[in-house]
Amino acid sequence: MTNDQGAPRHDRAAETPDPSAIGALSGDRRHEASASSEASAAPSATAVAEREPILRARRLVKTFGRVVGLDGASLELYPGEVLAVIGDNGAGKSTLIKCLTGAEIPDEGEIWLEGERVAFKRPQDARDAGIETVYQNLAVSPALDVASNLFLGRELRKKGILGSVFRVVDQKGMRQRARDELSALGISTLQDVTVPVENLSGGQRQAVAVARAAAFGSRVVVLDEPTAALGVRESNQVLELIRQLRDRGIPVILISHNMPHVFDVADRIHVQRLGKRAATITPQTHSMTDAVAIMTGAATE
Ligand SMILES: Nc1ncnc2c1ncn2[C@@H]1O[C@H](COP(=O)(O)OP(=O)(O)O)[C@@H](O)[C@H]1O
Ligand SMILES: [Mg+2]
Repeated sequence: MTNDQGAPRHDRAAETPDPSAIGALSGDRRHEASASSEASAAPSATAVAEREPILRARRLVKTFGRVVGLDGASLELYPGEVLAVIGDNGAGKSTLIKCLTGAEIPDEGEIWLEGERVAFKRPQDARDAGIETVYQNLAVSPALDVASNLFLGRELRKKGILGSVFRVVDQKGMRQRARDELSALGISTLQDVTVPVENLSGGQRQAVAVARAAAFGSRVVVLDEPTAALGVRESNQVLELIRQLRDRGIPVILISHNMPHVFDVADRIHVQRLGKRAATITPQTHSMTDAVAIMTGAATE
């Protein structure tokens, strides 16, 4: 009924079954192909819609016994954008994100990353492919310092035999690189990367987690409720960080319950309802009241 009614026109065009067209969308031909297939896209859908999605889910289905988590959910993330995902409790936001990040395996449907079909079996698969996720329960180690947290699981080793055979970590190199990453992201409150993370505020910890996600050549960063536990000032810092990521060319998927935050930072807003996308809207074309109406089924677009 409400299925994709509100999606921009390019969404519907793209969902016409034509897998061969999608398969061909790689490398040099991407631009050409998207220009022709999306020539009719509504101008209001902004420049990002003219390009190929960097990440795309097509009609994902995921059931848990008799419970339907996803009922044909589609999503597109375009280069250079912050895409918010909103929806009521139980709408399937987390399940959708888990499928995109390898934490759940969909029963049906397809996931495409930069024009290639992918099938993640575990979170590490998605991570290896460049999809970094910051989960709500932060994956930071409190006792370790900021630099060590940034490099957790992929520590830099010393050059030569010390590193290759004895696995000695390059503490100095990691600290320097950590400083570089943090300053590139405009995180000025974390000058001392040797401070244990347990001594940081909630917002600073979140910043470390986001910096960690951004630091390793990621192609997509997914943030699950990054401001849920934060105060106003810290939330604003995290929102600013999200903008920085986008401006550095890393598209962001932001799951959030906080409408003002969503409307503040998102370029587009995916509204999830009853296991599928009810609409994709923008802060320019829709109000928060509109968004809530679509979320609850009171309106379709
Ligand atoms: N592991 C699971 N086992 C059983 N049911 C689940 C599981 N994960 C999610 N669900 C169900 O799938 C539906 C969608 O859940 P979820 O994706 O968590 O929604 P949201 O994140 O939007 O609140 C809900 O009905 C939820 O109870
Ligand atoms: Mg959830």
